[in-house]
Amino acid sequence: MTDKIVQSLIDALGADIVLTGDATARYCRDWHGDAQGAALAVLRPRDTEGVSLAMNTCARLGLGVIPQGGNTGLALGAVAEAGGNVVLSLERMSRIRRIDPGDFSAVVEAGCVLADFKEKLAAEGMFFALALGAQGSCQIGGNVATNAGGINVLRYGMTREQVLGLEVVLPGGEVLDLLSTLRKDNRGIDLKQLFIGSEGTLGIITAVAVRLSPRPAQVATALLALRSLDEVIALYRRARLDCCDLLSAFEFMPPMAFTLAHEAMPELALPMEASHPAYALIEISGSGLVDIDDLMARFLEGVMGEGLVIDGVLAASEAQARNLWLFREGMNEGQARRGVHLRTDMSVPISAMAAFVARAEAAAEGAAPGALVVSYGHVGDGNVHLNVIPRPEITGTARLAEIKAAKAAVYAVLDEFGGSISAEHGIGRAKRDDFTARLDPARARLLGAIKDLIDPAGRMNPGCMLPAPDRPSQLVKISS
Ligand code: FAD
Ligand code: LAC
Ligand code: ZN
Repeated sequence: MTDKIVQSLIDALGADIVLTGDATARYCRDWHGDAQGAALAVLRPRDTEGVSLAMNTCARLGLGVIPQGGNTGLALGAVAEAGGNVVLSLERMSRIRRIDPGDFSAVVEAGCVLADFKEKLAAEGMFFALALGAQGSCQIGGNVATNAGGINVLRYGMTREQVLGLEVVLPGGEVLDLLSTLRKDNRGIDLKQLFIGSEGTLGIITAVAVRLSPRPAQVATALLALRSLDEVIALYRRARLDCCDLLSAFEFMPPMAFTLAHEAMPELALPMEASHPAYALIEISGSGLVDIDDLMARFLEGVMGEGLVIDGVLAASEAQARNLWLFREGMNEGQARRGVHLRTDMSVPISAMAAFVARAEAAAEGAAPGALVVSYGHVGDGNVHLNVIPRPEITGTARLAEIKAAKAAVYAVLDEFGGSISAEHGIGRAKRDDFTARLDPARARLLGAIKDLIDPAGRMNPGCMLPAPDRPSQLVKISS
């Protein structure tokens, strides 16, 4: 039966588009290596018409379709579950259709890797305001599908704010052209918003029109040591007031960040003593006539003079700034190397962050005695990644049970704070049950109705975000 379906896909799309067997393996596991799924085939169309044909063919064959970008998502949204599903990868659709510096806009295909796009824009003096540790692999389409956040959100907003228009292929193959670069367009309900953050559950994003900004020609980066997370939050308030809208990143990290990053990248040179209780990595940037270095110097003079900041390193070059960011980014890989663990992506009001982290860390330590509990994240967005890595000797089902207990304990505190279980990573399969358990009836009804309207057969990313509905399998019909 499987062979027949794969043959039907090849007949309809061409052998060049359809990967099968061992070649599908790398598309069926997640970035951390926590989950390994299986797909009947991986489809790799070259253009929008090819995606349309692929979707139409999958509709005819009754196949579930899992859209996949760079596969860096942290919520298992792009990982195929076993069953009659194919993965549709956008990796061959990486063209930049247009850059318009005069209009501060560009149109790019969904499969363009974020870092490649930013590099091409830089050559035109332009900037796409999305930056995250996975930018060397994640794709614009994946960024839009997850409404990704990252380090510049406090200044420019989430991915949603950067999107001017979308081209989407609907589940049956119809192309929905919303690819306008107009800034203001109030003609009816803004349908593109439905697809931003929909995690591949409604359609395939094939191209994106984005808002650009002038490339910040001046960037000042500093790593600062403080006495507590409470004081980091106080420093953030101060930075917002002193540096106003020129503050472009404000991250917090524990001292453990340096150890974890070092484990992933042993060649990293330690920028300062790693023994202070809390660290802030901040960036101020701008273009045109402002003097960013002077602003940073005066800001640091003030906060160090007052004793709020107890130690600090100001990057003297782009290479030094990059080195500081590698500690922040390398933390993720360092944690991945320590085995299966709890990862969270929570948000609370900025003013509640320090109190929340203290309570949630204590709850995690109670549920997972001796585990390494690491909290870091994006201060300007109230976004905390509180991760729990069980002791190495706890393995197998005991490890999974401890992770589950730690998650329940942390989320109980989060619920008390009225926070979100997904600030920027989405729901995927990893957070689906925690998400649906917290949905109020009106919201659940609307989400279900939108899904049923756009994807009545439930073939788009089944099991992602919402449980997969029972749908009659067309696979049986084909084999009979
Ligand atoms: P994938 O992982 O391929 O897919 C993610 C979801 O989008 C899936 O549900 C998939 O079905 C859907 N999808 C993908 N492409 C399309 C498409 N063209 N049409 C429809 N649906 C599609 N995220 C943040 O928000 N902030 C961070 O700071 C951040 N840092 C990270 C650091 C590291 C080291 C890693 C590994 C990940 C990080 N992430 C972060 C998570 C991840 O990079 C983002 O979620 C990113 O937007 C995913 O893009 P992708 O192309 O890899 O998507
Ligand atoms: C980060 C990812 C985990 O902020 O979102 O590093
Ligand atoms: Zn993050």
